[in-house]
Amino acid sequence: MTVEGSLVPEGTEWVPAGIDVNRPSSARVYDYFLGGAHNFAVDRQLADQIASMTPNIGETMRSNRVFLRRAVRYLAGQGIRQFLDIGSGIPTAGNVHEIALDAAPGSTVVYVDIDPVAVEHSRAILAGVDGAGVICADVRDADRILAETGKLGLIDFERPVAVLLAGVLHFVPDGDGPGAAVAALRAALAPGSYLLISHATGDGQPPEVIEAQRLSARTGTEIALRTAAEITAYFDGFTLVEPGLVFIPRWRPDPQDPVDEHPERVGAYAGVARKG
Ligand SMILES: C[S@@+](CC[C@H](N)C(=O)[O-])C[C@H]1O[C@@H](n2cnc3c(N)ncnc32)[C@H](O)[C@@H]1O
Repeated sequence: MTVEGSLVPEGTEWVPAGIDVNRPSSARVYDYFLGGAHNFAVDRQLADQIASMTPNIGETMRSNRVFLRRAVRYLAGQGIRQFLDIGSGIPTAGNVHEIALDAAPGSTVVYVDIDPVAVEHSRAILAGVDGAGVICADVRDADRILAETGKLGLIDFERPVAVLLAGVLHFVPDGDGPGAAVAALRAALAPGSYLLISHATGDGQPPEVIEAQRLSARTGTEIALRTAAEITAYFDGFTLVEPGLVFIPRWRPDPQDPVDEHPERVGAYAGVARKG
């Protein structure tokens, strides 16, 4: 099978038509770091290059994923039954709908991603799963996400919703108005809703991280490292639940996820906040 002039190797039938397999994508680089199979040589090359400069990157990605699972369980425990997961990525073990349905049967989940590989693969995984849907959209276009989510009929914005923005806002440069997009999402939510964010930061990071950030530009979008204050501003009007915005491993760790003495090494913050 030929995709944009490249030979797609055997066993990669999951590749949607029109994908440029010669250009790395952040979703597939992340998939590779998590040990997934939905990535190409070009993604693995870039991931290896980033890893050689920031040896903790694999740990960061895994730590983010573990945080997401912990937080979804926490949110289910707070009574949340509707999840809007934006920048959801290529499905991997312990997806949000699996965690949510396990913790709170009857929950509904809408996945949103800009990457066609992530969207197609999510669609395949969700075939036959009640209460879960997927949309291909850009987090910068909050109005469209809200409208398309409404059309799916899976989320009622009159009731509390958890909006998950895990590892996605740092792909939106300042010039593209990430603050306005998040504000539009916050405004659409009913009291009792939650906003979850994990986000890369330069706080406490060595200079190699900045260089790796430049490399990330080859995935199409440079990663915007933001400070704790900048990330906290995305929660404007909401109340951060304990322990606030912290380096990812510090967010309500389970006993089996011990926090070492350098949680800042993951180079990313996490927080969950409630409306009203
Ligand atoms: C690092 S992965 C995070 C996946 C998952 N949320 C997690 O935390 O495990 C980032 C995802 O964000 C997606 N993404 C990047 N820019 C985006 C945008 N502007 N709108 C929507 N999704 C985007 C990428 O395609 C990728 O799947």
